[in-house]
Amino acid sequence: MITNRSKIAIIGAGFVGAAAAYALAMKKLVSEIVLIDANAPKAEGEAMDIAHGLSFMGEMYIHSGGYEQVRDCDIIIVTAGANRKPGETRMELAQKNAVIAKDITKNVMKYYNTGVILVVANPLDVITYVIQKESGLPTGRVFGTGTALDTARFRYLLSEVVGVDVRNIHASIAGEHGETQFPLWSSVRIAGMTLDDYCKEAKIQIDKSQIEQEVKSAGSEVIKRKGATYYAIASVIAKASEVVLKDQRSVLNVSSLMEGRFDLYDVCLSMPSIVGRSGVENIIVSELSDDEREKLNASAEAIKKVIHNLL
Ligand SMILES: NC(=O)c1ccc[n+]([C@@H]2O[C@H](COP(=O)([O-])OP(=O)(O)OC[C@H]3O[C@@H](n4cnc5c(N)ncnc54)[C@H](O)[C@@H]3O)[C@@H](O)[C@H]2O)c1
Repeated sequence: MITNRSKIAIIGAGFVGAAAAYALAMKKLVSEIVLIDANAPKAEGEAMDIAHGLSFMGEMYIHSGGYEQVRDCDIIIVTAGANRKPGETRMELAQKNAVIAKDITKNVMKYYNTGVILVVANPLDVITYVIQKESGLPTGRVFGTGTALDTARFRYLLSEVVGVDVRNIHASIAGEHGETQFPLWSSVRIAGMTLDDYCKEAKIQIDKSQIEQEVKSAGSEVIKRKGATYYAIASVIAKASEVVLKDQRSVLNVSSLMEGRFDLYDVCLSMPSIVGRSGVENIIVSELSDDEREKLNASAEAIKKVIHNLL
């Protein structure tokens, strides 16, 4: 049962926004959800469709509306943006979605009085940067789902390979939500053991580069078959929302603005982060191997290049 009033706005009621609204409704996390979309009938239709099932899900108010609805929201989720069209470069998509993100931020900030902004639109790290800068909100109040989805896929694949419940596997994908992402192999733990110790003990051999590649291509493999991905990202959004609403201070691999951590400045990317009521509160990796540090720098450079080309 929902005891405290809580409200989430979802901007963009496409595949991802609608699936996220449904996941949030099923989790009974929030007392009010508003869907906002440039295509108003689409937002209205999605809200109606979910509302028609509420007698089986529990009390909640779900509706569509305009930007004035972001007032008093605990979380404002931005999923609006185009997907990459055949033949379109990542840079062209970045330019298109950055324009949309700036426009949305301007509208949000007319009414914003509280809450965090959770970014989902791609290219994730670039759009998170754009919204962080355009909004003028404190660092961390804007954060992106980042490599949380890639991390979920990584943990799932590891659990399959080593044959251990995914809940007993701690592992992270860091860096860009995209091509230059990389696993933090040095901090993988299986029931408290390092991966190498566990594999020696269990007499298992694993192909790290194959797992790495499978994680990286997981999204495009889904898109190849069904045209879009939305259920897994909806679960990520619902989890991140729960962490914020309940101020859980959980560790999530999310994207936020780097201000000197790992000697990185002025770029958004993902590292294991403590997330609570006010968004990203801390980034918590203590040690990186030389290889991981090199990959982190390469990832930061790749994201910065796109950002600088936009400005
Ligand atoms: N971060 C992740 O892990 C992850 C995973 C899946 C998808 N995505 C990204 O999420 C975004 C949305 O994907 P989708 O499949 O839902 O796309 P979609 O095309 O189904 O939905 C996008 C919605 O945004 C709306 N929109 C466009 N411009 C707008 C504006 N200016 N204001 C308000 N609404 C606007 C459209 O009307 C549409 O309903 C894409 O950028 C996609 O790449 C991210």
